[in-house]
Amino acid sequence: MFERVASVSEVPPNGRKSIIVDDVPALLVRIGNDFFAVEDVCSHDGQPLTDGPVADGAITCPRHGAKFDLKTGKALCMPATQPIPTFAVQVRDGEVFVGPAGAELPPGPTTSASVTSTATATNSLPVVSVLDAVGEKVPLPEPGDDDEIRLIDALKQVIDPELMVNIVDLGLVYTINRDGHKIYVEMTLTSPACPAGPQIVQQSKMALERLRDVEEAEIKLVMSPPWTPDRMTDEAKDMLGIF
Ligand code: FES
Repeated sequence: MFERVASVSEVPPNGRKSIIVDDVPALLVRIGNDFFAVEDVCSHDGQPLTDGPVADGAITCPRHGAKFDLKTGKALCMPATQPIPTFAVQVRDGEVFVGPAGAELPPGPTTSASVTSTATATNSLPVVSVLDAVGEKVPLPEPGDDDEIRLIDALKQVIDPELMVNIVDLGLVYTINRDGHKIYVEMTLTSPACPAGPQIVQQSKMALERLRDVEEAEIKLVMSPPWTPDRMTDEAKDMLGIF
């Protein structure tokens, strides 16, 4: 059975909304003019996909980097091997309805899964604006240790999918600088050929841009000085069994 989960205007192009379908947490994602709904749980280890980056019609698990096709739910890369459940989505009269996969909304005046919009479609979700709910500019934090700790904590959410350790404890982050609402990061990879590089860069950018006082994060990959295992924290070494 279909249920209304949102109005079209609630979910801007390339936005998303957490919804409940049949008592199950789910995620409604809009890419351009098309809507997709998937169960909001990674099939690898149960991580909610709520904040996962979306690109090329797929959502990436923010924990270990598994990727799922938003249309089919298929697992596109390790460490996930099982698909995630998807739902049928249809739009009628400016309202978004979600139902069981493969089901059709009973005929009505409009049964298209697409909506008309003049907005430009992109493959990335909008970042959190630095304007608050009433349109006021979010004040800059006081310069100092607290701000740096917040930025580091945000980057700690990014996990190297090969080693399953966050990029800060791995010693991949070299410098973090703030210029107003813009953040500049220099970081490296465990090896220049690391296949997870683009994913780590993208997730670092998103992790910082999720902060309300960050408008843009620029992540620069540097290979000098090269990363060595002794850059890791003791905690990371413990996790990897290096003594
Ligand atoms: S929990 Fe999603 S990839 Fe591990």
